[in-house]
Amino acid sequence: LICCDLFWKIKMFSGPLEIKTCLCGRDCLHAGDTCSSDDTCSPRLRTLRQCVAGDGSMKLGPGARSQCENAMTALLSTPLHGCQCKRGMKREKNCLSIYWSLHQSVLHGLSLVESYPYEPEERGSDYVRLASIAAATESEVTTVNRCLDAAKACNIDETCQKLRTEYVSACIQPSARSGPCNRPKCNKALRKFFDRVPPDYTHELLFCPCTDTACAERRRQTIVPSCSYEEKDKPNCLVQLRDCKQDYVCRSRWAQFQYDCEASEHSASGCKRENHGSCLLAYTGLIGSTITPNYLDNSTSNVGPWCSCAASGNHREQCNDFLAFFHDNICL
Ligand SMILES: *[C@@H]1O[C@H](CO)[C@@H](O)[C@H](O)[C@H]1NC(C)=O
Repeated sequence: LICCDLFWKIKMFSGPLEIKTCLCGRDCLHAGDTCSSDDTCSPRLRTLRQCVAGDGSMKLGPGARSQCENAMTALLSTPLHGCQCKRGMKREKNCLSIYWSLHQSVLHGLSLVESYPYEPEERGSDYVRLASIAAATESEVTTVNRCLDAAKACNIDETCQKLRTEYVSACIQPSARSGPCNRPKCNKALRKFFDRVPPDYTHELLFCPCTDTACAERRRQTIVPSCSYEEKDKPNCLVQLRDCKQDYVCRSRWAQFQYDCEASEHSASGCKRENHGSCLLAYTGLIGSTITPNYLDNSTSNVGPWCSCAASGNHREQCNDFLAFFHDNICL
């Protein structure tokens, strides 16, 4: 407790200096449980959760607002401040609901430290090494279909093979109610695959380099887009994003993606945080969500969600910014 207390104090007063891990670190679920069993903390958390009920856009009267701010300020000196969640963890949604209680826009001014919902993943690092080895040999082996090799590699790994079979069968199964497939079931299985299988496999499958359309078509088909991606019509991107933000998991995946894939022209990798591996990881975190991205065709490596900015009215700029995060992002 002393360690955590000290950690949060440092984190609160260190400004832009980033301290990423705490040896006694707790996720929001644990922090929430600890808080709930504390007579001082518990009512404050309850108050705060009422303040941000719904999507947090509720207009608060001046009295309620100050009550909310007091609760928030008090909670900043508990382990709740700075708590995060693990992607794919048990009760992920509950964990994220606590995270967002402290990060809702209504009380935005009080959030002192730049934050993102998910704990950094250690397991992202190996892929970066593998990818750089792969890049070096890429030009020499143009006849080899790396996407095919990745599929073979996945078949040899027990978890990869099992969860890939699971999502493929979930995504191609016809559904009596909703027609050619059961999209929610397909999405759930896709999320399980990308949350549980090590990126060594998933990233090789999804980001394999291609020089011909056969390879690129195979790569585009990885997520069974006919079920998980395409629809008859293209919805407006901002409508899609709004739906995403109403779900704690989707909202968090999107927030994480924005954080990890923030581009910078001044960095060697193109990524502001110089961590291309975690950007790719955040990208796969979006698969199976409302804003699932995929390759747009089989002749380029362009990716984006299945949506359009055509009918955006006076929100066009905002809509284009959303799409640009996929289409023109040097980090991604
Ligand atoms: C590439 O996409 C085009 C347009 O969707 C399609 O007609 C073509 O068959 C695809 N190529 C391959 C090799 O699958």
